[in-house]
Amino acid sequence: MYRDPVESLEPLHSRPALNRTLRVGMIGIGTVGSGTFRVLVRNQADIAARAGRAIELVIVAARNLARAAGIVGEGVALTADPMQVAAHPDVDVVVEVAGGTGPARDWVLAAIAHGKHVVTANKALLAVHGAEIFAAARKQGVAVAYEGAVAVSIPIVKALREGLAANRIEWVAGIINGTTNFILSKMRDEGLDFAAALAQAQALGYAEADPSFDIEGIDAAHKLSLLAANAFGMPLRFADVQVEGITALQGLDVACAEQLGYRIKLLGVARRQASGVELRVQPALVPATHLMAQVNGSMNAVMVKSDAAGLTMYYGAGAGSEQTASAVIADLVDVARLDGVNAAQHVPHLGVHEHATNALAVLPRAAVHTSHYLRVPVRAVSQIQAVTACLAEQKVPVRQVALAAERPGIGPQVLVLTGPVAQGTLDLAVHALQARSEVAGVVATLCVELLEG
Ligand code: HSE
Repeated sequence: MYRDPVESLEPLHSRPALNRTLRVGMIGIGTVGSGTFRVLVRNQADIAARAGRAIELVIVAARNLARAAGIVGEGVALTADPMQVAAHPDVDVVVEVAGGTGPARDWVLAAIAHGKHVVTANKALLAVHGAEIFAAARKQGVAVAYEGAVAVSIPIVKALREGLAANRIEWVAGIINGTTNFILSKMRDEGLDFAAALAQAQALGYAEADPSFDIEGIDAAHKLSLLAANAFGMPLRFADVQVEGITALQGLDVACAEQLGYRIKLLGVARRQASGVELRVQPALVPATHLMAQVNGSMNAVMVKSDAAGLTMYYGAGAGSEQTASAVIADLVDVARLDGVNAAQHVPHLGVHEHATNALAVLPRAAVHTSHYLRVPVRAVSQIQAVTACLAEQKVPVRQVALAAERPGIGPQVLVLTGPVAQGTLDLAVHALQARSEVAGVVATLCVELLEG
C-alpha cells in the first residue's frame, strides 16, 4: 500500500532543537584530516549557517601526536588510540580519514556501536566492508556518509541520490582516479615516462599509500562500486568489477589512438543492460573531441545518462587535501541537519542500508558489448586485408581500418576500430588473428567508449 512518506516523519515539535554544537572526533590527521580542520576553521561561520549549528573538532586520534598538535593547536584533545575517539562520550560524529580497511573497519564499527554517526572518505573500506558497516549503521539509526570517497570535489553521491532522484539511471561513466589521469596526461603532453609521472603524482599527494591501488585500477573500482550502488540501487559489488589498470598500456597505443582521433583515459563504467549490469574499470579510447577527453591532470569527471535529465556531466578535482575536505564537511553539514531527526527525512543512499533491493546481476566480461580498438603488428603493409578478412570470418564488425604512422624500429601496424561486439567474440577473434602467419606480434586491444546519449 502506498504510504505518504511525509506521514512517517515525526511531528516537528517532538524533534530535539538543533542549536547544540555538533562535536566531531577525527581519526587520522594526514592530508585529508588537516585540510578538513583548516576548512572547518576558515569557513566556520558559513558552515555553521548551513548546518544550523556550529561544527567543532573536539578530539583527534593520530599516530604522531606532536605533528597533530602542530596542526590543530590547543583546544582539541589528542589521543594515539582511535578507539578512544570511537567511544568518546563527547563525540557526535566520527570522521574516519585514516584510510585502510583493517583497523578502520573496527574503528568505524565501534563508533557506530557507540551511536556515533560516521563520515568517511575511505572508499576501500566501504567497497570491501560496506555491507556490514551500513547494516550496523541502520541497526543503530546512525548515518554513514561518504561523499569524499568518490571524485572528492564533485558532489556526485549527492547528485545521484538527490539531484537525479526522479530518474532511472542508464549508465554512469567517468574518470574517477586522479593519479592515473595525471600520469596519462603527463605521458601524453610532456612525454614523461610512466615511473616519472607516478613519482610526481605521489609527490603531489594524489596517490594512495599503496600506489598499485591507483595504477592497477583498484581505487577506481572501489569508487565505481559505490557509484553503481547509488545509481542502480544494487548492493556493493566491488569483487565483481572487471578491473584493468594502466600498467600494461603502451605509449605506442596512446600515439595510435591519437592518430585515429581518440585519447586514452582510465574509465570506470557502470551500465545497465537488459540482462544485468556492466561494471568495469579499464583504459579506453574516448573521441578526442569529447568533453571527457579534455579532463586532464588529476581532475575527475563523471557522466550520468538518465531517462529524464538525459546526459549530465560533473567535473572537478579528484584528489587533494581541501578538495576532499570540501566533501567531508558537506557530509558533516548533512549529519548536523540529520542528527536527532527522523532519518526517514533523508533521501537514502540507494544500494546501501535497506535499499539494496535491486539484485541486478553483474555481467561476465565475455558478455560486455563495446566497440574496440585493435593494433595488429603485421609482417608487411600489404597484409592489411588478411586482418580484415580474419575479423569478418570471426563476425567482428569493422568500422575503420588504418595503418599506423611509421615509427623508427617499429614494424607495420594495422589499426582497427570495430563496431559494438561482445567481448567474448572479440577475444576469439584476437585468438584467431594471433594464429595467422601474417601477424608479427602481440595484438593490442582496448575498449572504445563513445559516451553518447
Ligand atoms: N588516489 C586517489 C586518486 C585519491 O588518485 O584519485 C582520491 O581518491
